[in-house]
Amino acid sequence: MTTILQINSAARSQGAQSTLLVNELTEKLQQSNPGAQVVTRNLQAEPLPHLDDAILGAFFTPAEQRTPEQQAIAARSEALIAELQAADVIVIGAPMYNFGISSQLKTYFDFIARAGITFQYTANGPEGLVTGKKVYVVTARGGKYHGTPHDSQTPYLKSFLGFLGMTDVSFIHAEGLAMGADAASAALASARQAIAAV
Ligand SMILES: Cc1cc2nc3c(=O)[nH]c(=O)nc-3n(C[C@H](O)[C@H](O)[C@H](O)COP(=O)(O)O)c2cc1C
Repeated sequence: MTTILQINSAARSQGAQSTLLVNELTEKLQQSNPGAQVVTRNLQAEPLPHLDDAILGAFFTPAEQRTPEQQAIAARSEALIAELQAADVIVIGAPMYNFGISSQLKTYFDFIARAGITFQYTANGPEGLVTGKKVYVVTARGGKYHGTPHDSQTPYLKSFLGFLGMTDVSFIHAEGLAMGADAASAALASARQAIAAV
């Protein structure tokens, strides 16, 4: 059975365009994978903390030497990694805020990037340990940046996901959402056309 992990990373709980579109993409994937199980990771409803001394201390202390507090922090990270590893298909909603991904998505990435668990360094360089996944990223942006040097998200997401082993990544962009009603409608229509073609 296919498991789809949908990651919502918008800061808004209501009306987020990235969430609207990833919901539609997940529905489409369910249609093409009847019986697929969907797991939703809502980073706005269940926010993760920023990296700090306590979190880094937990990650870098050997498991058998961790304090109870460090064990709880490491367990939270490892539960997110288990959820990710259990998925066959990963669908990420990625709004653009201030030329980057949301801080919600960044804290998630900080919790799933773990040396020896999701990546490792070998004599040949880094090796990602989250393999065999199909990833879809749906971006939502006020302006239009795809194909320009200002598209800070696409190369970053490809690098990060690829570093962890997720190299089969497809992007769907909803761009120009803040450029007037006509541009916003065209952005949603174009994203929906790409979703229909998945
Ligand atoms: C705090 C904030 C920062 C934003 N920064 C950018 C930006 O740097 N570039 C851009 O094109 N749009 C920017 N926008 C517009 C968003 O990309 C657009 O509203 C998009 O729909 C956000 O995704 P969401 O609807 O899923 O929250 C910003 C919006 C907000 C609320």
